[in-house]
Amino acid sequence: MAEIAQDRAVRVAVLGCGTVGRALVGLLLDDAAGIAERSGVRLALVGVAVADPTKHRVGVPAELITGDAKVLVTDPEVDVVVELIGGLDPARELVEAALAAGKAVVTANKALVAAHGASLAATASAAGVDLLYEAAVAGAIPIIRPLRESLAGERVQRVTGIVNGTTNFILTLMAEEGVSYEDALGEAQRLGYAERDPSADVDGHDAAAKAAILAGLAFRCAVVGDDVPRQGIGAIPAADVASAARMGFVVKLLAVAELVADGALSVRVHPSLVPAAHPLASVRGAFNAVFVEGEACGELMLYGRGAGGMPTASAVLGDVIDAAHNRLSNSAAPAPPRGPARLLPPSEVRCPYYLSVEVADQPGVLAAVATAFGRHQVSIRSMEQDGLGEEARLIFLTHTARDGDVQATLAELADLPAVRRVGAVLRVVGVVDEPSAAAVDRPGGAGAVLA
Ligand SMILES: NC(=O)c1ccc[n+]([C@@H]2O[C@H](COP(=O)([O-])OP(=O)(O)OC[C@H]3O[C@@H](n4cnc5c(N)ncnc54)[C@H](OP(=O)(O)O)[C@@H]3O)[C@@H](O)[C@H]2O)c1
Repeated sequence: MAEIAQDRAVRVAVLGCGTVGRALVGLLLDDAAGIAERSGVRLALVGVAVADPTKHRVGVPAELITGDAKVLVTDPEVDVVVELIGGLDPARELVEAALAAGKAVVTANKALVAAHGASLAATASAAGVDLLYEAAVAGAIPIIRPLRESLAGERVQRVTGIVNGTTNFILTLMAEEGVSYEDALGEAQRLGYAERDPSADVDGHDAAAKAAILAGLAFRCAVVGDDVPRQGIGAIPAADVASAARMGFVVKLLAVAELVADGALSVRVHPSLVPAAHPLASVRGAFNAVFVEGEACGELMLYGRGAGGMPTASAVLGDVIDAAHNRLSNSAAPAPPRGPARLLPPSEVRCPYYLSVEVADQPGVLAAVATAFGRHQVSIRSMEQDGLGEEARLIFLTHTARDGDVQATLAELADLPAVRRVGAVLRVVGVVDEPSAAAVDRPGGAGAVLA
Protein backbone atom coordinates (compact mmCIF):
# COMPACT_ATOMS: atom_id res chain seq x y z
CA MET A 1 0.00 0.00 0.00
CA ALA A 2 1.46 3.34 -1.07
CA GLU A 3 1.52 6.04 1.62
CA ILE A 4 -0.44 9.18 0.83
CA ALA A 5 -0.04 12.74 2.12
CA GLN A 6 -2.28 13.55 5.10
CA ASP A 7 -3.58 16.76 3.59
CA ARG A 8 -4.75 15.49 0.22
CA ALA A 9 -8.14 14.15 -0.74
CA VAL A 10 -8.55 10.38 -0.82
CA ARG A 11 -9.42 9.37 -4.39
CA VAL A 12 -12.39 7.11 -4.88
CA ALA A 13 -13.47 5.13 -7.95
CA VAL A 14 -16.98 3.67 -8.08
CA LEU A 15 -17.74 0.59 -10.18
CA GLY A 16 -21.45 0.53 -11.03
CA CYS A 17 -23.87 3.43 -11.19
CA GLY A 18 -27.22 1.71 -10.70
CA THR A 19 -29.54 1.92 -7.67
CA VAL A 20 -26.77 2.08 -5.06
CA GLY A 21 -23.92 3.43 -7.19
CA ARG A 22 -26.00 6.40 -8.38
CA ALA A 23 -26.99 7.24 -4.79
CA LEU A 24 -23.36 7.03 -3.62
CA VAL A 25 -22.11 9.14 -6.53
CA GLY A 26 -24.77 11.72 -5.64
CA LEU A 27 -23.58 11.86 -2.02
CA LEU A 28 -19.91 12.11 -3.03
CA LEU A 29 -20.58 14.88 -5.57
CA ASP A 30 -23.31 16.88 -3.85
CA ASP A 31 -22.20 16.66 -0.22
CA ALA A 32 -18.41 16.54 -0.52
CA ALA A 33 -17.88 19.51 1.81
CA GLY A 34 -20.36 18.21 4.39
CA ILE A 35 -18.77 14.76 4.36
CA ALA A 36 -15.34 16.31 4.86
CA GLU A 37 -16.62 18.43 7.75
CA ARG A 38 -18.39 15.58 9.51
CA SER A 39 -15.82 12.87 8.90
CA GLY A 40 -12.55 14.81 8.87
CA VAL A 41 -11.52 13.28 5.56
CA ARG A 42 -11.77 14.73 2.06
CA LEU A 43 -13.02 12.36 -0.63
CA ALA A 44 -12.60 13.00 -4.35
CA LEU A 45 -14.61 10.97 -6.85
CA VAL A 46 -12.22 10.29 -9.74
CA GLY A 47 -14.12 7.78 -11.87
CA VAL A 48 -17.33 5.83 -12.33
CA ALA A 49 -17.34 2.59 -14.32
CA VAL A 50 -20.55 1.35 -15.93
CA ALA A 51 -21.59 -1.27 -18.48
CA ASP A 52 -23.00 1.27 -20.93
CA PRO A 53 -20.96 4.49 -20.95
CA THR A 54 -23.18 6.03 -23.63
CA LYS A 55 -26.21 6.19 -21.31
CA HIS A 56 -26.94 9.71 -20.02
CA ARG A 57 -26.78 9.84 -16.21
CA VAL A 58 -28.35 12.92 -14.68
CA GLY A 59 -25.93 14.76 -12.37
CA VAL A 60 -22.91 12.60 -13.18
CA PRO A 61 -20.26 14.52 -15.18
CA ALA A 62 -19.59 12.67 -18.44
CA GLU A 63 -15.82 12.96 -17.93
CA LEU A 64 -16.04 10.72 -14.83
CA ILE A 65 -17.78 7.89 -16.71
CA THR A 66 -15.88 5.01 -18.24
CA GLY A 67 -16.86 1.68 -19.72
CA ASP A 68 -13.53 0.15 -18.68
CA ALA A 69 -13.62 -0.83 -15.01
CA LYS A 70 -10.30 -2.70 -15.37
CA VAL A 71 -8.43 0.54 -15.99
CA LEU A 72 -9.92 2.17 -12.88
CA VAL A 73 -9.00 -0.67 -10.52
CA THR A 74 -5.33 -0.48 -11.39
CA ASP A 75 -5.11 3.31 -11.87
CA PRO A 76 -2.28 4.57 -9.58
CA GLU A 77 -4.37 7.69 -8.93
CA VAL A 78 -7.11 5.66 -7.21
CA ASP A 79 -6.95 4.94 -3.46
CA VAL A 80 -10.32 3.31 -2.76
CA VAL A 81 -12.36 1.18 -5.17
CA VAL A 82 -16.10 0.79 -4.47
CA GLU A 83 -17.63 -2.24 -6.18
CA LEU A 84 -21.38 -1.77 -6.80
CA ILE A 85 -21.85 -3.94 -9.89
CA GLY A 86 -23.19 -7.01 -8.08
CA GLY A 87 -22.95 -10.73 -8.94
CA LEU A 88 -19.77 -12.77 -9.21
CA ASP A 89 -18.44 -11.87 -12.64
CA PRO A 90 -16.74 -9.53 -13.34
CA ALA A 91 -17.03 -8.24 -9.76
CA ARG A 92 -14.68 -10.88 -8.32
CA GLU A 93 -11.96 -10.32 -10.87
CA LEU A 94 -12.18 -6.53 -10.45
CA VAL A 95 -12.05 -6.70 -6.65
CA GLU A 96 -9.08 -9.08 -6.75
CA ALA A 97 -7.26 -6.81 -9.18
CA ALA A 98 -7.95 -3.75 -7.02
CA LEU A 99 -6.72 -5.47 -3.83
CA ALA A 100 -3.64 -6.81 -5.59
CA ALA A 101 -2.92 -3.27 -6.81
CA GLY A 102 -2.96 -2.08 -3.17
CA LYS A 103 -6.33 -0.33 -3.23
CA ALA A 104 -8.79 -0.50 -0.36
CA VAL A 105 -12.02 -2.09 -1.56
CA VAL A 106 -15.56 -1.39 -0.38
CA THR A 107 -18.38 -3.57 -1.69
CA ALA A 108 -22.10 -4.09 -1.08
CA ASN A 109 -22.00 -7.42 -2.91
CA LYS A 110 -23.36 -10.16 -0.62
CA ALA A 111 -23.12 -12.82 -3.34
CA LEU A 112 -19.42 -12.11 -3.79
CA VAL A 113 -18.61 -11.95 -0.07
CA ALA A 114 -20.66 -15.07 0.73
CA ALA A 115 -18.94 -17.08 -2.02
CA HIS A 116 -15.37 -15.74 -1.95
CA GLY A 117 -15.10 -13.65 1.23
CA ALA A 118 -12.35 -15.75 2.83
CA SER A 119 -10.01 -15.70 -0.18
CA LEU A 120 -10.65 -12.00 -0.83
CA ALA A 121 -9.96 -11.22 2.85
CA ALA A 122 -6.69 -13.15 2.58
CA THR A 123 -5.69 -11.14 -0.50
CA ALA A 124 -6.58 -7.89 1.29
CA SER A 125 -4.66 -8.93 4.38
CA ALA A 126 -1.58 -9.87 2.35
CA ALA A 127 -1.70 -6.48 0.63
CA GLY A 128 -2.31 -4.68 3.96
CA VAL A 129 -5.46 -3.00 2.67
CA ASP A 130 -9.11 -2.87 3.66
CA LEU A 131 -11.88 -5.05 2.32
CA LEU A 132 -15.06 -3.59 3.82
CA TYR A 133 -18.63 -4.74 3.16
CA GLU A 134 -20.99 -3.19 5.70
CA ALA A 135 -23.75 -2.78 3.10
CA ALA A 136 -23.65 -6.44 2.03
CA VAL A 137 -25.90 -7.45 4.95
CA ALA A 138 -29.04 -5.57 5.93
CA GLY A 139 -28.39 -2.40 3.88
CA ALA A 140 -28.19 0.67 6.11
CA ILE A 141 -27.95 -1.29 9.37
CA PRO A 142 -24.48 -1.27 10.90
CA ILE A 143 -23.97 -4.94 11.77
CA ILE A 144 -20.70 -5.96 10.11
CA ARG A 145 -18.53 -3.48 12.01
CA PRO A 146 -20.21 -4.20 15.38
CA LEU A 147 -19.64 -7.93 14.90
CA ARG A 148 -16.06 -7.46 13.70
CA GLU A 149 -14.99 -4.77 16.17
CA SER A 150 -17.41 -3.92 19.02
CA LEU A 151 -18.09 -7.60 19.72
CA ALA A 152 -14.57 -8.80 18.86
CA GLY A 153 -14.06 -10.36 22.31
CA GLU A 154 -17.64 -11.48 22.85
CA ARG A 155 -18.65 -15.12 22.97
CA VAL A 156 -21.54 -14.82 20.55
CA GLN A 157 -24.11 -17.59 21.00
CA ARG A 158 -26.60 -16.80 18.31
CA VAL A 159 -27.32 -14.30 15.55
CA THR A 160 -30.88 -14.21 14.24
CA GLY A 161 -31.77 -11.85 11.43
CA ILE A 162 -34.62 -10.63 9.32
CA VAL A 163 -32.26 -9.80 6.47
CA ASN A 164 -34.54 -9.84 3.45
CA GLY A 165 -37.00 -6.96 3.14
CA THR A 166 -38.98 -8.49 0.27
CA THR A 167 -40.00 -11.58 2.20
CA ASN A 168 -40.67 -9.58 5.36
CA PHE A 169 -42.93 -7.28 3.37
CA ILE A 170 -44.84 -10.28 1.93
CA LEU A 171 -45.20 -12.02 5.31
CA THR A 172 -46.30 -8.79 6.99
CA LEU A 173 -49.00 -8.28 4.36
CA MET A 174 -50.17 -11.89 4.75
CA ALA A 175 -50.36 -11.49 8.54
CA GLU A 176 -51.96 -8.06 8.66
CA GLU A 177 -54.27 -8.15 5.63
CA GLY A 178 -55.00 -11.88 5.57
CA VAL A 179 -54.06 -12.08 1.87
CA SER A 180 -52.58 -15.09 0.09
CA TYR A 181 -48.86 -15.46 -0.66
CA GLU A 182 -49.55 -14.88 -4.37
CA ASP A 183 -51.46 -11.63 -3.74
CA ALA A 184 -48.84 -10.36 -1.30
CA LEU A 185 -46.07 -11.13 -3.79
CA GLY A 186 -48.00 -9.31 -6.53
CA GLU A 187 -48.31 -6.25 -4.30
CA ALA A 188 -44.58 -6.40 -3.45
CA GLN A 189 -43.80 -6.51 -7.19
CA ARG A 190 -46.17 -3.62 -7.89
CA LEU A 191 -44.46 -1.49 -5.25
CA GLY A 192 -40.96 -2.41 -6.44
CA TYR A 193 -40.03 -4.46 -3.33
CA ALA A 194 -39.84 -7.69 -5.35
CA GLU A 195 -38.20 -8.44 -8.69
CA ARG A 196 -40.23 -9.84 -11.59
CA ASP A 197 -38.33 -13.09 -10.92
CA PRO A 198 -38.53 -13.09 -7.10
CA SER A 199 -36.78 -16.43 -6.53
CA ALA A 200 -33.55 -14.99 -5.07
CA ASP A 201 -35.62 -13.46 -2.28
CA VAL A 202 -38.58 -15.79 -1.74
CA ASP A 203 -36.54 -18.99 -2.02
CA GLY A 204 -34.07 -17.74 0.60
CA HIS A 205 -30.90 -17.47 -1.56
CA ASP A 206 -30.33 -13.82 -0.63
CA ALA A 207 -30.87 -14.50 3.08
CA ALA A 208 -28.58 -17.56 2.92
CA ALA A 209 -25.72 -15.46 1.55
CA LYS A 210 -26.22 -12.97 4.37
CA ALA A 211 -26.48 -15.76 6.96
CA ALA A 212 -23.10 -17.09 5.77
CA ILE A 213 -21.51 -13.64 6.12
CA LEU A 214 -22.98 -13.07 9.60
CA ALA A 215 -21.98 -16.55 10.78
CA GLY A 216 -18.41 -16.12 9.53
CA LEU A 217 -18.01 -12.85 11.41
CA ALA A 218 -19.83 -13.83 14.60
CA PHE A 219 -18.07 -17.18 14.96
CA ARG A 220 -14.72 -16.35 13.31
CA CYS A 221 -14.92 -19.02 10.67
CA ALA A 222 -15.37 -19.40 6.91
CA VAL A 223 -18.96 -20.19 5.91
CA VAL A 224 -19.98 -20.23 2.26
CA GLY A 225 -23.48 -19.21 1.14
CA ASP A 226 -24.01 -22.47 -0.76
CA ASP A 227 -23.46 -24.43 2.48
CA VAL A 228 -26.42 -22.79 4.20
CA PRO A 229 -29.58 -24.94 4.10
CA ARG A 230 -32.56 -22.81 3.18
CA GLN A 231 -36.30 -22.99 2.97
CA GLY A 232 -38.27 -20.21 1.28
CA ILE A 233 -41.68 -18.73 2.03
CA GLY A 234 -43.53 -19.80 -1.12
CA ALA A 235 -45.31 -22.78 0.43
CA ILE A 236 -46.83 -20.99 3.43
CA PRO A 237 -50.63 -20.88 3.26
CA ALA A 238 -52.38 -17.74 4.55
CA ALA A 239 -54.39 -20.03 6.89
CA ASP A 240 -51.19 -21.00 8.73
CA VAL A 241 -50.08 -17.40 9.09
CA ALA A 242 -53.52 -16.75 10.67
CA SER A 243 -53.33 -19.86 12.88
CA ALA A 244 -49.87 -18.84 14.06
CA ALA A 245 -51.22 -15.40 14.97
CA ARG A 246 -54.07 -16.96 16.99
CA MET A 247 -51.46 -18.97 18.87
CA GLY A 248 -49.44 -15.82 19.66
CA PHE A 249 -46.78 -16.05 16.94
CA VAL A 250 -45.67 -14.06 13.91
CA VAL A 251 -44.20 -15.81 10.83
CA LYS A 252 -40.81 -14.45 9.75
CA LEU A 253 -38.14 -15.62 7.34
CA LEU A 254 -35.10 -15.85 9.59
CA ALA A 255 -31.39 -16.27 8.99
CA VAL A 256 -30.06 -18.12 12.02
CA ALA A 257 -26.45 -18.78 13.00
CA GLU A 258 -25.95 -20.43 16.38
CA LEU A 259 -23.49 -22.41 18.39
CA VAL A 260 -24.94 -25.77 19.34
CA ALA A 261 -24.11 -28.40 21.94
CA ASP A 262 -20.55 -29.50 21.18
CA GLY A 263 -19.22 -26.34 19.57
CA ALA A 264 -20.65 -27.10 16.14
CA LEU A 265 -22.34 -24.30 14.25
CA SER A 266 -25.83 -24.36 12.78
CA VAL A 267 -26.40 -21.83 10.00
CA ARG A 268 -29.73 -21.89 8.21
CA VAL A 269 -32.55 -19.91 6.66
CA HIS A 270 -36.19 -20.83 7.13
CA PRO A 271 -39.60 -19.36 7.79
CA SER A 272 -40.14 -19.43 11.54
CA LEU A 273 -42.75 -18.80 14.18
CA VAL A 274 -41.54 -16.00 16.44
CA PRO A 275 -43.46 -15.20 19.67
CA ALA A 276 -45.36 -11.93 19.29
CA ALA A 277 -43.46 -10.48 22.26
CA HIS A 278 -40.02 -11.16 20.73
CA PRO A 279 -38.24 -8.00 19.44
CA LEU A 280 -37.98 -9.51 15.93
CA ALA A 281 -41.78 -9.92 15.77
CA SER A 282 -42.23 -6.14 15.65
CA VAL A 283 -40.08 -5.78 12.51
CA ARG A 284 -42.71 -5.04 9.86
CA GLY A 285 -42.80 -4.41 6.13
CA ALA A 286 -39.54 -4.13 4.22
CA PHE A 287 -37.48 -3.38 7.34
CA ASN A 288 -34.61 -5.58 8.50
CA ALA A 289 -33.23 -6.33 11.96
CA VAL A 290 -30.43 -8.42 13.38
CA PHE A 291 -30.71 -9.83 16.91
CA VAL A 292 -27.44 -10.86 18.56
CA GLU A 293 -27.13 -12.91 21.74
CA GLY A 294 -23.79 -13.12 23.50
CA GLU A 295 -22.55 -14.41 26.83
CA ALA A 296 -21.46 -11.03 28.18
CA CYS A 297 -23.43 -8.55 26.06
CA GLY A 298 -26.79 -10.28 26.47
CA GLU A 299 -29.29 -9.37 23.77
CA LEU A 300 -28.75 -6.64 21.16
CA MET A 301 -30.93 -5.70 18.21
CA LEU A 302 -30.09 -3.45 15.28
CA TYR A 303 -32.99 -2.33 13.12
CA GLY A 304 -33.39 -0.31 9.93
CA ARG A 305 -33.76 -0.23 6.19
CA GLY A 306 -32.19 -3.25 4.56
CA ALA A 307 -32.22 -2.00 0.97
CA GLY A 308 -32.81 0.97 -1.27
CA GLY A 309 -30.33 3.26 -3.00
CA MET A 310 -29.79 5.88 -0.30
CA PRO A 311 -29.91 3.63 2.80
CA THR A 312 -27.41 1.25 1.19
CA ALA A 313 -25.23 4.11 -0.07
CA SER A 314 -25.13 5.45 3.50
CA ALA A 315 -23.54 2.20 4.71
CA VAL A 316 -21.16 2.17 1.73
CA LEU A 317 -20.15 5.77 2.46
CA GLY A 318 -19.34 4.85 6.07
CA ASP A 319 -16.98 2.16 4.78
CA VAL A 320 -15.40 4.55 2.25
CA ILE A 321 -14.70 7.05 5.04
CA ASP A 322 -13.26 4.27 7.22
CA ALA A 323 -11.05 3.09 4.36
CA ALA A 324 -9.98 6.68 3.67
CA HIS A 325 -8.98 7.26 7.30
CA ASN A 326 -7.04 4.01 7.24
CA ARG A 327 -5.30 5.02 4.02
CA LEU A 328 -4.25 8.31 5.58
CA SER A 329 -2.89 6.57 8.68
CA ASN A 330 -1.34 3.80 6.59
CA SER A 331 -3.35 1.09 8.33
CA ALA A 332 -6.22 -1.31 7.66
CA ALA A 333 -9.26 -2.54 9.60
CA PRO A 334 -8.59 -5.54 11.83
CA ALA A 335 -9.05 -8.89 10.09
CA PRO A 336 -10.01 -11.39 12.81
CA PRO A 337 -8.60 -14.90 12.49
CA ARG A 338 -10.93 -17.40 10.83
CA GLY A 339 -10.88 -21.15 11.25
CA PRO A 340 -12.81 -23.74 9.30
CA ALA A 341 -16.49 -23.98 10.21
CA ARG A 342 -17.81 -27.22 11.71
CA LEU A 343 -21.38 -27.15 10.49
CA LEU A 344 -24.09 -29.25 12.09
CA PRO A 345 -25.93 -31.38 9.50
CA PRO A 346 -29.48 -30.04 8.99
CA SER A 347 -31.02 -33.30 10.25
CA GLU A 348 -29.38 -32.77 13.66
CA VAL A 349 -30.79 -29.28 14.25
CA ARG A 350 -33.26 -29.19 17.15
CA CYS A 351 -36.13 -26.84 17.80
CA PRO A 352 -39.87 -26.96 18.45
CA TYR A 353 -42.04 -27.22 15.32
CA TYR A 354 -45.42 -26.01 14.10
CA LEU A 355 -47.00 -28.61 11.79
CA SER A 356 -50.34 -28.45 10.06
CA VAL A 357 -51.93 -31.62 8.74
CA GLU A 358 -55.15 -31.86 6.73
CA VAL A 359 -57.07 -35.01 7.64
CA ALA A 360 -60.27 -36.81 6.71
CA ASP A 361 -63.04 -36.91 9.29
CA GLN A 362 -62.67 -40.59 10.22
CA PRO A 363 -62.63 -42.43 13.51
CA GLY A 364 -59.12 -43.21 14.76
CA VAL A 365 -57.38 -40.45 12.78
CA LEU A 366 -56.00 -38.71 15.83
CA ALA A 367 -54.63 -41.93 17.26
CA ALA A 368 -52.91 -42.81 13.97
CA VAL A 369 -51.36 -39.36 13.70
CA ALA A 370 -50.22 -39.36 17.33
CA THR A 371 -48.67 -42.81 16.86
CA ALA A 372 -46.58 -41.50 13.95
CA PHE A 373 -45.26 -38.69 16.14
CA GLY A 374 -44.52 -41.08 18.99
CA ARG A 375 -42.74 -43.60 16.78
CA HIS A 376 -40.15 -40.94 15.90
CA GLN A 377 -39.84 -39.47 19.41
CA VAL A 378 -41.45 -36.19 18.40
CA SER A 379 -43.35 -35.07 21.46
CA ILE A 380 -46.55 -33.05 20.96
CA ARG A 381 -46.82 -29.95 23.11
CA SER A 382 -50.28 -28.89 21.97
CA MET A 383 -52.79 -29.69 19.26
CA GLU A 384 -55.76 -27.77 17.96
CA GLN A 385 -58.32 -28.52 15.31
CA ASP A 386 -59.21 -25.92 12.73
CA GLY A 387 -62.48 -26.59 10.91
CA LEU A 388 -64.68 -29.63 10.99
CA GLY A 389 -65.37 -32.73 8.91
CA GLU A 390 -63.95 -32.73 5.40
CA GLU A 391 -62.10 -29.48 6.01
CA ALA A 392 -60.38 -30.47 9.25
CA ARG A 393 -56.84 -29.23 9.80
CA LEU A 394 -54.86 -30.40 12.80
CA ILE A 395 -52.26 -27.97 14.03
CA PHE A 396 -49.49 -29.31 16.23
CA LEU A 397 -46.87 -27.53 18.26
CA THR A 398 -44.13 -29.95 19.23
CA HIS A 399 -41.58 -29.85 21.96
CA THR A 400 -37.96 -29.45 20.88
CA ALA A 401 -37.35 -32.17 18.31
CA ARG A 402 -34.52 -33.27 16.06
CA ASP A 403 -35.13 -32.24 12.44
CA GLY A 404 -34.37 -35.75 11.14
CA ASP A 405 -37.09 -37.14 13.44
CA VAL A 406 -39.59 -34.52 12.33
CA GLN A 407 -38.90 -35.31 8.67
CA ALA A 408 -39.39 -39.03 9.35
CA THR A 409 -42.69 -38.22 11.10
CA LEU A 410 -43.83 -36.13 8.14
CA ALA A 411 -43.00 -38.92 5.71
CA GLU A 412 -45.03 -41.38 7.78
CA LEU A 413 -47.94 -38.94 8.11
CA ALA A 414 -48.00 -38.41 4.34
CA ASP A 415 -48.53 -42.17 3.88
CA LEU A 416 -51.47 -42.44 6.28
CA PRO A 417 -54.75 -43.01 4.40
CA ALA A 418 -56.57 -40.46 6.59
CA VAL A 419 -54.04 -37.72 5.93
CA ARG A 420 -55.04 -35.60 2.93
CA ARG A 421 -52.02 -33.34 2.99
CA VAL A 422 -49.16 -32.28 5.20
CA GLY A 423 -49.29 -28.50 5.16
CA ALA A 424 -46.96 -25.90 6.66
CA VAL A 425 -43.91 -27.11 8.56
CA LEU A 426 -42.42 -24.19 10.46
CA ARG A 427 -39.71 -24.04 13.08
CA VAL A 428 -40.41 -22.16 16.29
CA VAL A 429 -37.69 -19.73 17.32
CA GLY A 430 -37.37 -17.52 20.38
CA VAL A 431 -39.05 -19.72 22.97
CA VAL A 432 -37.59 -21.54 25.94
CA ASP A 433 -38.96 -25.03 25.58
CA GLU A 434 -39.54 -27.41 28.45
CA PRO A 435 -37.77 -30.57 27.36
CA SER A 436 -40.19 -33.41 26.85
CA ALA A 437 -39.57 -36.88 28.24
CA ALA A 438 -38.80 -38.07 24.71
CA ALA A 439 -36.31 -35.28 24.14
CA VAL A 440 -34.59 -35.98 27.46
CA ASP A 441 -34.26 -39.63 26.50
CA ARG A 442 -32.38 -38.80 23.32
CA PRO A 443 -28.64 -38.15 23.34
CA GLY A 444 -27.97 -34.42 23.62
CA GLY A 445 -31.66 -33.71 24.02
CA ALA A 446 -31.87 -32.70 27.66
CA GLY A 447 -32.54 -29.15 28.64
CA ALA A 448 -32.95 -27.89 25.12
CA VAL A 449 -33.29 -24.16 25.22
CA LEU A 450 -34.14 -22.16 22.16
CA ALA A 451 -34.20 -18.43 21.99
N1 LIG B 1 -30.32 -2.18 -4.55
C1 LIG B 1 -30.28 -2.35 -3.24
O1 LIG B 1 -31.19 -1.91 -2.49
C2 LIG B 1 -29.12 -3.04 -2.58
C3 LIG B 1 -29.08 -3.21 -1.18
C4 LIG B 1 -27.98 -3.82 -0.58
C5 LIG B 1 -26.95 -4.28 -1.38
N2 LIG B 1 -27.02 -4.12 -2.74
C6 LIG B 1 -25.91 -4.61 -3.55
O2 LIG B 1 -25.31 -3.52 -4.21
C7 LIG B 1 -24.79 -3.95 -5.47
C8 LIG B 1 -25.36 -3.07 -6.57
O3 LIG B 1 -26.75 -3.23 -6.60
P1 LIG B 1 -27.70 -2.24 -7.46
O4 LIG B 1 -29.08 -2.55 -7.04
O5 LIG B 1 -27.20 -0.86 -7.37
O6 LIG B 1 -27.43 -2.83 -8.93
P2 LIG B 1 -27.95 -2.23 -10.33
O7 LIG B 1 -28.96 -1.18 -10.10
O8 LIG B 1 -28.28 -3.38 -11.18
O9 LIG B 1 -26.64 -1.51 -10.94
C9 LIG B 1 -25.54 -2.24 -11.43
C10 LIG B 1 -24.58 -1.26 -12.05
O10 LIG B 1 -23.42 -1.99 -12.46
C11 LIG B 1 -23.06 -1.56 -13.76
N3 LIG B 1 -22.34 -2.64 -14.44
C12 LIG B 1 -22.80 -3.85 -14.85
N4 LIG B 1 -21.80 -4.56 -15.42
C13 LIG B 1 -20.70 -3.77 -15.36
C14 LIG B 1 -19.35 -3.94 -15.77
N5 LIG B 1 -18.93 -5.05 -16.38
N6 LIG B 1 -18.47 -2.92 -15.56
C15 LIG B 1 -18.89 -1.78 -14.96
N7 LIG B 1 -20.15 -1.58 -14.53
C16 LIG B 1 -21.04 -2.55 -14.73
C17 LIG B 1 -24.38 -1.23 -14.45
O11 LIG B 1 -24.09 -0.36 -15.54
P3 LIG B 1 -25.27 0.27 -16.46
O12 LIG B 1 -25.89 1.36 -15.60
O13 LIG B 1 -24.57 0.80 -17.65
O14 LIG B 1 -26.23 -0.84 -16.75
C18 LIG B 1 -25.11 -0.55 -13.31
O15 LIG B 1 -24.80 0.82 -13.24
C19 LIG B 1 -25.16 -5.43 -5.59
O16 LIG B 1 -24.08 -6.22 -5.16
C20 LIG B 1 -26.32 -5.57 -4.63
O17 LIG B 1 -26.45 -6.89 -4.13
C21 LIG B 1 -28.06 -3.52 -3.36
